[in-house]
Amino acid sequence: DFGDNDEFWLFGYGSLIWKPPPHYDQRIPGYIDGYVRRFWQSSEDHRGTPEAPGRVVTLIDRAHWETLVDHHDSLPTEKVWGAAYHIPAPKVAEVRAYLDLREIMGYSIQYTLVHPAASSRLNATEPRPKPIKCLVYIGLPCNPQFLGPQDPQELAARILKCKGPSGENIEYLYMLETALLDLSAESEDGHISDLASRCRKLEASQSKGLGKSEGL
Ligand code: BEZ
Repeated sequence: DFGDNDEFWLFGYGSLIWKPPPHYDQRIPGYIDGYVRRFWQSSEDHRGTPEAPGRVVTLIDRAHWETLVDHHDSLPTEKVWGAAYHIPAPKVAEVRAYLDLREIMGYSIQYTLVHPAASSRLNATEPRPKPIKCLVYIGLPCNPQFLGPQDPQELAARILKCKGPSGENIEYLYMLETALLDLSAESEDGHISDLASRCRKLEASQSKGLGKSEGL
């Protein structure tokens, strides 16, 4: 069931924001309610390996979130910003097969309403666009790759050192940070910016340490 008119819309809140699916004909920045984005998903196939799993984002349902202790200083943002993609009907099967291969390990499919950014209107006199029913991939607590609360400093250190077939884990974090800032004026996510700034500090202190040991 792809919602009204057999339309297929997909919502990306992680790598899909900067690495779109093939064959989309519309991309709309927007947000969803009722979830918290956290780097609590283990990645053995993209940004890490089975020996040294990296960390990528998942969404935590608010009802589950309320039962957890979060060790991060940053309070969760009310909205989770991302991008909604419309896939033309003749390409839906191909895109789903591509996504299943690209991302499906450890994620389950859910449907959620995406609220388009006000800026996605062509002009300010247009009414606010209606919410769009979108497919979203979520690492649920029952998926083995879901880790739950992480110590933020250990998380940053791990992200800095891991890499996998899709590239360095740190690249994923920095790309996500930048892509979020580009979506709208209010789409910054404190959890992502906090992790990115911890990583930048770690990188700076590591390069200082390296300089010293090389006598620079
Ligand atoms: C995303 O970019 O939103 C995403 C893609 C695949 C799995 C989980 C999230």
